[in-house]
Amino acid sequence: MKTLMLSISLTFAFIASGWSQSGDPAKLIGTKRCAMCHKKADKGDQYGVWMSKNHAKAYEILAGEEAKAVGAKLGIDDPRTSGQCLKCHSTAYFFTETLQSEAVAVEDGVSCESCHGPGADYKKKSTMESRELSIAGGMIYPAKEKSCVLCHNDSGPTWDPNRYTLPDGTKTGFDVAQAYEKIKHERPAE
Ligand code: HEC
Ligand code: HEC
Ligand code: HEC
Ligand code: HEC
Repeated sequence: MKTLMLSISLTFAFIASGWSQSGDPAKLIGTKRCAMCHKKADKGDQYGVWMSKNHAKAYEILAGEEAKAVGAKLGIDDPRTSGQCLKCHSTAYFFTETLQSEAVAVEDGVSCESCHGPGADYKKKSTMESRELSIAGGMIYPAKEKSCVLCHNDSGPTWDPNRYTLPDGTKTGFDVAQAYEKIKHERPAE
């Protein structure tokens, strides 16, 4: 019970802080650096898979008509320059509430480090080969449990409480199991 309470309060602290404690924006290194080691087809080409999904287009979508209409209702002229949108539609802003990272282009949208944490202290091959060392270096793991709800929650202006249908027919705004299937980029089984 004690452990459960602890993990619940930690989860809230996590959401409330927006990772400011565990994620140092100065340590963002950018998607291209991750791609150097994570675009091999025989290892699952995580970069290629990410590029083909909507997270990579999360900034781009802010230029569209739908985003403009959503912004207009909130008095926002251009969603591409508003922190109220960039918070969840880009990477650095999520950690800093400013665009103060040279390494991470706003155009990259929701990139590797949005989910896995700023990479400067875990990007070395010898660190990456050990899950324990990577976590000690700031890698968020498992991202499935810790990252998704930071953005997929009812504070977003297009939150739809009926977006997902659970196996028993109940509607819900976010179902991590189904959502993960749509974005997964796993290594092929050996
Ligand atoms: C120097 C090469 C290198 C760089 C740069 C690199 N990685 Fe890795 N990464 C690896 C290796 C090697 C592994 C071990 C598993 C494998 O072979 O895929 C790994 C594993 C991982 C894992 C799985 C961890 C686990 O315990 O299952 C994640 C997540 C990951 N990397 C994310 C990233 C992200 C995000 C970046 C950029 C911030 C990055 N990596 C940069 C080489 C690298
Ligand atoms: C709390 C995080 C969050 C904030 C803040 C946020 N969004 Fe989003 N937005 C999301 C997520 C998550 C999705 C994807 C929902 C899905 O597909 O499950 C999304 C999707 C969208 C879509 C695609 C339509 C849809 O329903 O999928 C548009 C357009 C959009 N957002 C516009 C905006 C605009 C404009 C702002 C600023 C006024 C904004 N968002 C702020 C999280 C956020
Ligand atoms: C939307 C969040 C998200 C984004 C963006 C994302 N990942 Fe992941 N990634 C995950 C989740 C979830 C897993 C499954 C393990 C976990 O829960 O941490 C995973 C797993 C991995 C693994 C391990 C694969 C395996 O078979 O064990 C690697 C390597 C990886 N990601 C690298 C990357 C790289 C490189 C990028 C950017 C090009 C990236 N990820 C972008 C959420 C994300
Ligand atoms: C930094 C904020 C952020 C995080 C963290 C995040 N997402 Fe998203 N997600 C978004 C936004 C914004 C969109 C809408 C992008 C668009 O439509 O262009 C989206 C869209 C999606 C979509 C629908 C688009 C598609 O490609 O089919 C799925 C599924 C999804 N996210 C799953 C996840 C999962 C699973 C995780 C956790 C591992 C996660 N997301 C973490 C912000 C985030």
